[in-house]
Amino acid sequence: MKKHLAPSILAADFTRLGEQLKIIENAGVKYLHLDVMDGVFVPSISFGMPVIKSIRSHSKMIFDVHMMVTEPERYIGDLKKAGADIIAVHIEACRSPKKALLQIDGLGAKPALAISPGTAIEELREYLPYLGQVIVMSVNPGFGGQPFIESSYDRIAELADMRKELGLEFDIEVDGGVYAENAEHILDCGADILVAGSAVFGGDIRSNIDGLLEITGRE
Ligand code: DX5
Ligand code: ZN
Repeated sequence: MKKHLAPSILAADFTRLGEQLKIIENAGVKYLHLDVMDGVFVPSISFGMPVIKSIRSHSKMIFDVHMMVTEPERYIGDLKKAGADIIAVHIEACRSPKKALLQIDGLGAKPALAISPGTAIEELREYLPYLGQVIVMSVNPGFGGQPFIESSYDRIAELADMRKELGLEFDIEVDGGVYAENAEHILDCGADILVAGSAVFGGDIRSNIDGLLEITGRE
């Protein structure tokens, strides 16, 4: 399966967002990871519909929206309207993860579930037939720039085994603390998409992207 890079704009310079997104898109990146935080499910607040909507008209990348929001069902429709292609809700944040996934699917976006490091991978099993992507969090959600939690390697492999066992085809995306140094190991465990915030936006974006695309393969 083709591997991809999904830069997270959480680490971008918001005064130069348009310019930085052009660099990424021109380098051949296909996915853009958008972290929506509500200050309740996670301590921090990031951005929401207006920002996503305004960049939608300037980019053809696949908008991969990661909702770190309590009762995310309330915002699924608005996020789709703002331009989301993939919508991920946290398994820990939904009243009914299955209902939320069906709601996303019904609107024509790719349904995804995100799982925090403290939640057992096994909890995902019953929802896997209804989704197209899982985000395995490799840091506690809420902030960029945290170190990768080492036990995530086994969790990614566990999910990849479950996918095989069930004969399913969803993508496994890994989010948090991803750098050129650990990217290869993460992909070897079974990941398909690597989210990278600090590793892309810290320093020279073009050369960071080039280094990461060497590992995932060119788009
Ligand atoms: C954290 C977010 C991540 C974050 C990753 O809660 O979900 O997407 O932006 O940032 P880095 O790559 O800096 O760990
Ligand atoms: Zn994220």
